[in-house]
Amino acid sequence: MVNLANIISLLDEGVIPSFKETTALNLASTYKEISTLSHKNSDLFLLGVEKFYEEKSLGEEIRSFDDFFELALIFDRDKNSINRFFDACLGLRTIGNLAKFDQIVQEKQSGIEKDQRVRGSFEYAHTQTHYSLLMDIFNYLRPASKSSIVDVGAGFGRVGFFLNLCFPELNYLGLEIVQERVECAEKISKKNNFKNCQFQVQNLAEESYVLPKADFYYFYDPLNEKDLKKVILDLENQHKLNAAKFSVIALSGYDDFLLEHLKKQNWLQVVRSVEDHYFKQAGLILQTINT
Ligand SMILES: C[S@@+](CC[C@H](N)C(=O)[O-])C[C@H]1O[C@@H](n2cnc3c(N)ncnc32)[C@H](O)[C@@H]1O
Repeated sequence: MVNLANIISLLDEGVIPSFKETTALNLASTYKEISTLSHKNSDLFLLGVEKFYEEKSLGEEIRSFDDFFELALIFDRDKNSINRFFDACLGLRTIGNLAKFDQIVQEKQSGIEKDQRVRGSFEYAHTQTHYSLLMDIFNYLRPASKSSIVDVGAGFGRVGFFLNLCFPELNYLGLEIVQERVECAEKISKKNNFKNCQFQVQNLAEESYVLPKADFYYFYDPLNEKDLKKVILDLENQHKLNAAKFSVIALSGYDDFLLEHLKKQNWLQVVRSVEDHYFKQAGLILQTINT
């Protein structure tokens, strides 16, 4: 068990707490209490959470969407705390930040100008779908066991980790152009012992590249408008030439063109809209239809 008074006095002395034989539910409730008292202490507490999960996986405690939901519920509507807590359990806060620095150093050394850099923030926390939206989307979709999903521009892999916790039988493939992000995602997947979580370095804009077949395709602002049109055409061909049926999940944080282009496709039908005013993310779930 975690004793709140002991933990607070350790944190006040600047000590990262270490926990024995506790549960994610206990850690989450304690984190919630501490974060209402002090921001600095809540950061130290999360380092302790990350240390606790260094040698084990949150997947030992969370095996379904309902388990994930129960844990997230502890934070009520505090979406930032949900992000911070789950990322700490996964190891994403530390490993994601290391990947960020590797990438910055590499780009500085290669002399690439800022405006030529790939899309998506360096900051792992700002480049990924928030867990609260992932819960909305996949509570609606509830993907069947053994179905497959391709994350088109996977970032640091948060979508894949969430899915491996909630739907461990779903096959996830994350495609991502930035090698450091893929390395980070692979480290986290390995540490957490995720079985159905693969990542691949891939430039989706390559003319000859064709997306693998899947039941779901996930887009969160991955491409510029020209490259996006190429990828949408690729999916249209899969649907029309191979009679492939699938769903597309599209989220937009700062560009509208992704949602606008998808809405215009007469072979796709919008089945649901999702929105998060707080994080300024909006999205659509679409399904193929016969035209
Ligand atoms: C906004 S992030 C989304 C990450 C993840 N799908 C999520 O929702 O949490 C978009 C990602 O697309 C990647 N990306 C940009 N251009 C790409 C390209 N041509 N090929 C593959 N990935 C690309 C970026 O590096 C970035 O990590």
